[in-house]
Amino acid sequence: MKSKQFPKHFKWGVTISSYQNEGAYNTHGKGPSIWDTFTNRPAFKKGTGNTATDFYTNYKADIDQVKALHLDCFRFSLSWSRIFPQGTGEINPEGVAFYHDVINYALDVGIEPWVTLYHWDLPQALQDLGGWTNRDILTWFETYVDFCTKTYGLKVKTWIILNEPMSFIGLGYFMGMHAPRKKGLKNFLPAAHNAALCQSLGGRIVRQNVEHANIGTTFSCSYVRPLNRRVMHKNAAQRIDALLNRFFIEPSLGLGYPTAAIPGLNRIEKYYQPGDEDLLAFDFDFIGVQYYFKIVAKFSLLPPILFAAEVPAEKRDVKTNAMNLEIYPKGLYKMLEQFNQYSGVKDIYITESGQCFEDELIDGKIQDKARINYFKKTFKYTLKAIENKMPIKGYFIWTLIDNFEWAEGTKPRFGIIYNDFKTQKRTLKKSGLWLKSFLRKR
Ligand code: NOJ
Repeated sequence: MKSKQFPKHFKWGVTISSYQNEGAYNTHGKGPSIWDTFTNRPAFKKGTGNTATDFYTNYKADIDQVKALHLDCFRFSLSWSRIFPQGTGEINPEGVAFYHDVINYALDVGIEPWVTLYHWDLPQALQDLGGWTNRDILTWFETYVDFCTKTYGLKVKTWIILNEPMSFIGLGYFMGMHAPRKKGLKNFLPAAHNAALCQSLGGRIVRQNVEHANIGTTFSCSYVRPLNRRVMHKNAAQRIDALLNRFFIEPSLGLGYPTAAIPGLNRIEKYYQPGDEDLLAFDFDFIGVQYYFKIVAKFSLLPPILFAAEVPAEKRDVKTNAMNLEIYPKGLYKMLEQFNQYSGVKDIYITESGQCFEDELIDGKIQDKARINYFKKTFKYTLKAIENKMPIKGYFIWTLIDNFEWAEGTKPRFGIIYNDFKTQKRTLKKSGLWLKSFLRKR
């Protein structure tokens, strides 16, 4: 497979995010976010993103790397509390200037900046008022998006509203595993509904403020298979699929939440206000698909409502990554097929895909063959999807540089560039070299 085989205008890019990379967590006027709170509490032992990869200082050198790798696009997110330290109200001019600098630098070196408006780092001040569970977030988000699009909209044309709503709402407001560590349906349902409303609201604001905008939002997905052919497991797999893969895209397409598949979730209607059905939908120009792993599902009495559980990958004799998740490149193809079946979906970008390992620097080199293999295979499946007439317009790898992997800290390394977190010294991995030579021959 050669990069030449991809369509001429296919976009190759890389994705990073503010909390996982920027650092400068309490300087230059930035206010705290829920992730600063999460990682700086004494009970959390996996480090912090206080410095992360220090993108705040290193952005020029890092964007130079994007260019050197022959990529077209650089996707990054804005830290809401760097712009509005208290979430709303007063603006931090230094924060605003920082993103101007990042965008200008990318444009100067010929890289297209793609901006994600929300990649999980909610201002702590807003969490103090209930965060995503408080319907006022619609107003807070509106103010934030309005400001960002009016400020950067002449230079940035591609806007992504939310990064993986099911991840930050599921892990942060249902399982309590991510910031802000909330649990249960009483948090999940209002937070999910408000996020779904903000997803479409954000789209409408960008459309209004940015001429010729290309507007998308991203969805996490996993390829879900039943443990075996028994009906109980098949049904369990369908419920997990509805929760993980359908819950946020379907309302955006005007189809409502997939509550027919998980009847207990129809309690979300309690949080509806008149007109919400229509407000949930927005005509996105593209969707971003973010794929990492496969899940095997089985029937289980717990948790109630879902009545389904995952069979951990380590019990299944399959290839796993540093987070014990099954590496299954073909799942990307399956998910592209699944998302492409919605008639309302227009363009599709793979806005994130990649793999984590505990890479080690040996004699100044990182021989990450398994990552190269993952990219080779998923690129092949992407090409196959294009040949089969799916509208796949780009592939953004996750990620440029090993960064702060949320509740997992810095152990799982996803980068094509190795980072020494003590010195911030970057070393191109073998996968980075491979990608560079793959893309050079376009
Ligand atoms: C998806 C998220 O968007 C990103 O922040 C995370 O690091 C990767 N998955 C890997 O887990």
